[in-house]
Amino acid sequence: MRVLTATFAFNEGEKIRRTLARHPSARSYDLLVLDDGSTDGAVSDVDGGVIVLRNERNLGIGASMKRVFEYALENGYEVLVIQAGNDKDDPLEIPALLAPIVSGVADFVQGSRYLGGGGFGNMPKYRVLGTRVIHPVVFSIAARKRVTESTNGFRAFRTALLRDGRINWRQAWLDRYELEPYLLLKAITLGYRHCEVPVTKIYPRLRLVEHSPAGRLSWIGNQKMITATRVPFVDLRVQHAALAASIEPAIREVCEHGDFILGAAVARFEAEYATYIGTRHAIGVASGLDAIELALRAHDIGPGDEVITVANTFIATVLAILAAGARPVLVDASAESYNLDAAAVAAAITPRTRAIVPVHLYGQPADLDAITALARRHNLVMIEDAAQAHGSRYKGRRIGLFGHAAAFSFYPSKNLGAYGDGGMVVTNDDRVAEKVRLLRNCGQRVKYYHSVVGTNSRLDTLQAAILRVKLPHLDTWNAARRQHAAAYSSRLPSHVHTPATLPDVEHVFHLYVIETDRRDALQESLTARNIQTGIHYPVPIHLQEACVHLGYKAGEFPVTERAAQRILSLPMYPELSPDQIDYVVEAVNG
Ligand SMILES: Cc1ncc(COP(=O)(O)O)c(C=O)c1O
Repeated sequence: MRVLTATFAFNEGEKIRRTLARHPSARSYDLLVLDDGSTDGAVSDVDGGVIVLRNERNLGIGASMKRVFEYALENGYEVLVIQAGNDKDDPLEIPALLAPIVSGVADFVQGSRYLGGGGFGNMPKYRVLGTRVIHPVVFSIAARKRVTESTNGFRAFRTALLRDGRINWRQAWLDRYELEPYLLLKAITLGYRHCEVPVTKIYPRLRLVEHSPAGRLSWIGNQKMITATRVPFVDLRVQHAALAASIEPAIREVCEHGDFILGAAVARFEAEYATYIGTRHAIGVASGLDAIELALRAHDIGPGDEVITVANTFIATVLAILAAGARPVLVDASAESYNLDAAAVAAAITPRTRAIVPVHLYGQPADLDAITALARRHNLVMIEDAAQAHGSRYKGRRIGLFGHAAAFSFYPSKNLGAYGDGGMVVTNDDRVAEKVRLLRNCGQRVKYYHSVVGTNSRLDTLQAAILRVKLPHLDTWNAARRQHAAAYSSRLPSHVHTPATLPDVEHVFHLYVIETDRRDALQESLTARNIQTGIHYPVPIHLQEACVHLGYKAGEFPVTERAAQRILSLPMYPELSPDQIDYVVEAVNG
């Protein structure tokens, strides 16, 4: 469903900039601003992702809306959302406005401040009286339907209404404020399905709002509540809010079909993911850990075999090797990229070595030329651990194309995250693909006929349905992550070491990891300012209690061990706002 959100500016100054900045960079609708003849230049340089229409001179809100209506019709939009340009409507409420239309129960959804769950902050008392009492009462009589809100422009409706000749919205007398209530009245009296959803109109009065850019201002009825400024490490709710209008019907469809295990969405998502990476096969499994294990097992790697990987990784890489029955052989990381050091891999190869598992840590591809060459020379299997690097590229080619197979994780906070666990094996090898398909499904090709000792590791249909909605946004999200990383790197102080991006790679910044001498003090001071950070990872694999049996000692992998004392991951997710990045940068500059 094509949705256009339109906002309007007439000399709104900073307010229109804030209105636009509040929209998540990854969104399920196009965003348009109509500049109604502003002379303040506030919308002269809005970012390229926003459609701009300009009136040569000020024509009024009704006339401006008419122009947007024509634009929406000419460009095939099915739903139009109207939002004020004065920073009073919260774009994170747009999915709630769209939901009744997407689910097919409404044609016109009116935002209401006066329904339970809505709010109106510091609105002046005389306006409360007018908009809460007088207007709705008069309007309800005219419409013969009780409404709680008739003057709020924040609403969504099907553009099909605009093609209804009986509405005749092009009349000249509607060029100013009359158009908004007129449209609502016509929609109701002509029998279009109308409903209200609660929204919050913010009437900020305190300058404090301006000074705490990452803060949250919430309103309960007429009471303001300012919660402390806060930047989460990752905020999965923002992404859901932006996509809810598409994800909720996708979930409903699976529930209505009841094909929860290996249903249609799994096969579709596998095909789409294979196309995205460029491999012949993609096989959905239950987690990233399982993806690595099953890729190893599909290559008949198991007891007696050694598999080389890096000490600086998430433990799942090593658990997967152990689960396959093989022995993990750890090597140190490169000081520049934190990824496995190819020279160390070369030194670790023995006659028992069967495979290498390079990890594309933090979203940056490992040194694939060197590792591929080693694998070829020694006839080793290479399985890429791509759990943190969906969509990244090495020398222009997507990672996942370099090994005999690659493993992805769809853990919720990953660059492509499900709403639970999930994973994927990709490969060009028909035999390996077939074997992974068997292994993930109890070793059966035909129900109840089991040809190998498999396991239960299927990607849920519900997760696949959600991931199908998300996949088309992945490149945009990765680009946003890169933009945030560039903003951090250009502005952080020189006493922190910012992440190096190696030549010829496209980093997708699953994590933005800095290094500093005073890591613990910095983390503490950021925590005190409500900025969440992480350490990836505080204890190297060889020093983990669970891995004592591997027989490694402290001091064996100095680069990894030093990093564990010094690294800090700053907040990173596509929807981080420029204000939040400013706030983090200021706090690190301290
Ligand atoms: C590098 C690495 N490998 C493997 C995994 C395992 O993925 P999952 O959590 O889906 O099992 C993860 C993520 O959690 C990871 O970061």
